[in-house]
Amino acid sequence: MPHCAPVRVLFVCLGNICRSPLAEGVFQAAVDKQGLSDRFKIDSAGTGAWHAGQAPDRRMRKTASSHGIQLDDLRARQFTVADLGGFDHIYAMDAHNLNDMLSLDRDTAFGSRVSLFRDLDPEPGDGQVPDPYYGGTDGFEEVFRIVDRTCEALLLELAKEYTL
Ligand code: 4NP
Repeated sequence: MPHCAPVRVLFVCLGNICRSPLAEGVFQAAVDKQGLSDRFKIDSAGTGAWHAGQAPDRRMRKTASSHGIQLDDLRARQFTVADLGGFDHIYAMDAHNLNDMLSLDRDTAFGSRVSLFRDLDPEPGDGQVPDPYYGGTDGFEEVFRIVDRTCEALLLELAKEYTL
């Protein structure tokens, strides 16, 4: 079988400590389970820099861990303009994140790589992954359910697109 370049997937939220690291962890686990680890490069980033270098939020780690997903080794980083060219598919957790990324795309060269994560959600609601940061535990569980089913749909979609 010829060598194929990995499909590069980036998940982006505001702080890179709640929603996007969860998406990274859940999608990586789904890919690993399907034996497709070497076909993907998966990462996450935040449009803001406040939490750069930090592990994911303790509440998000706890919720993920209760569903068998470990996020402890991830560290937040800020999204940069270089990420627009460095990833094939960039998924924004909400419309703010999407607009912030597109505003960095001054030559409008990479806009087609950037989309809303919940466009792939079979139950898309309002299209946003709600920010759980200032809410209670229920918010983290809700984010997990959204991210889990959307990552499953995303993997099916990309497997079809790249005939994996
Ligand atoms: P995230 O959640 O974007 O899902 O990582 C947030 C984390 C931190 C902040 C906002 C949202 N914050 O304002 O510090």
